[in-house]
Amino acid sequence: MILLFVLSLYLTFGSVQNQGSSQDAFIIQYLERRLVQMEERLNQCEQNSLSITQKTYDLSSEIRSYQSTLGILRSEMESQMDSMSARVDRVEGELEYLENKIPTQSDIEMEEALLEQQIKAAELEQIKTKAKLNVDNDCSTALRQIKSLKIVKKSGDPNGSWFKDPSEGSAKVYLLSGMRNDTVLEFSSLENFTKTSSSPAKVVRLPFFWSGTGHVVYNGFLYYHKADTPNQILKVDLLNGTVVDSTLLPGAGRLPVYSLNPNTFLDMAVDELGLWVIHADPEYGGNLVITKLEIGTLSVEYTWDTQCRSRDAEGAFLMCGTLYVVYNTHFGGRSTIQCLYDIHDTIHSNESPVMFFPKRYTSHSSIHYHPGDKQLYAWDDGYQTVYKVETRSSDKTVAE
Ligand SMILES: *[C@@H]1O[C@H](CO)[C@@H](O)[C@H](O)[C@H]1NC(C)=O
Ligand SMILES: *[C@@H]1O[C@H](CO)[C@@H](O)[C@H](O)[C@H]1NC(C)=O
Ligand SMILES: *[C@@H]1O[C@H](CO)[C@@H](O)[C@H](O)[C@H]1NC(C)=O
Ligand SMILES: *[C@@H]1O[C@H](CO)[C@@H](O)[C@H](O)[C@H]1NC(C)=O
Repeated sequence: MILLFVLSLYLTFGSVQNQGSSQDAFIIQYLERRLVQMEERLNQCEQNSLSITQKTYDLSSEIRSYQSTLGILRSEMESQMDSMSARVDRVEGELEYLENKIPTQSDIEMEEALLEQQIKAAELEQIKTKAKLNVDNDCSTALRQIKSLKIVKKSGDPNGSWFKDPSEGSAKVYLLSGMRNDTVLEFSSLENFTKTSSSPAKVVRLPFFWSGTGHVVYNGFLYYHKADTPNQILKVDLLNGTVVDSTLLPGAGRLPVYSLNPNTFLDMAVDELGLWVIHADPEYGGNLVITKLEIGTLSVEYTWDTQCRSRDAEGAFLMCGTLYVVYNTHFGGRSTIQCLYDIHDTIHSNESPVMFFPKRYTSHSSIHYHPGDKQLYAWDDGYQTVYKVETRSSDKTVAE
């Protein structure tokens, strides 16, 4: 617009100049100068706009290239995301598979909790039983040493058992020769038993064979392991040989009680507290387990796992609820007590020194403690022997 206006002015004044006026010529010169100046500025403007256009173009092409780079990056990112999510999917799948194959953590924890609960309950039960036994029996005898040995007789097989009925007032002696038989010899007294000439007062035929050497007699009843059963205990009235009770001892009978006496699977014992059964438990590392039986009904009162091993053991006995385990070697040697287990937890193996039997090469097939006599009745390779023992007070405190 401005350009057109200036041009028309120029044309107008040009026609006036032709009419010849110096003043007009000056004006025209002035206008021409201005025109040139404006043209220059116009040029400048054009160039500026050109360069701006160029710059704009450059910028936009730059942006476009950025955009395309961004696009590439984005698609790269997307493909990476895809592969990542595929990998996540695969890992999830694998996890699911594994979870289906193994029990979940929460299941295991539950089982552990259950186990813990059961252990706690058992411990509580054990404490209760201990307390009850403590209150019921003021028994504080502990073994100090094996004092002396007396060989009473030689009779029967190399293996067998003999003992006195430990019930009060009874002097009767019983002999069960061999690992398996149904004949029990009864003697009226130790004196009569010792006399080599004297024949037994009575020969009792049992209704079933016995097995091993772990029998006991208490108050005229024989308690024994019935042959050809893993863990059946019979209680037989020796007056007429009838079975008055029987029980199956849970978990027992899978291992010999003592590795040196491989034919005895249940070893019974009587002490001041009553009737016990000793056996070895394969699920407990072959260690000895002791079970207190109610002497009348044969019901299980309680079971204790001991830390005493069955390996190299040849026998054991109980005294006031403490198990004393006798060890030896395969070749026969000097027997020693090397492990004890106190159900009251007042006497400990590590506090008691090893106790030696009198110097003699022995091989015990059975050892029975008599709480009244404070003597051990043992079967030593066909010899019937008696050990006198020295006791001390174990200073047991009555349970809390
Ligand atoms: C059982 O013992 C008696 C006497 O001790 C003996 O005569 C008999 O042979 C034994 N029976 C068996 C099967 O060992
Ligand atoms: C020994 O046996 C005889 C005959 O069997 C008997 O008369 C005597 O009383 C017995 N001795 C003892 C101490 O029991
Ligand atoms: C065996 O002796 C006991 C006690 O004397 C008696 O109660 C029981 O009835 C007797 N059994 C048989 C079968 O004779
Ligand atoms: C006696 O027991 C031992 C194992 O303690 C065994 O080797 C031996 O054969 C047994 N003897 C008899 C006659 O049963």
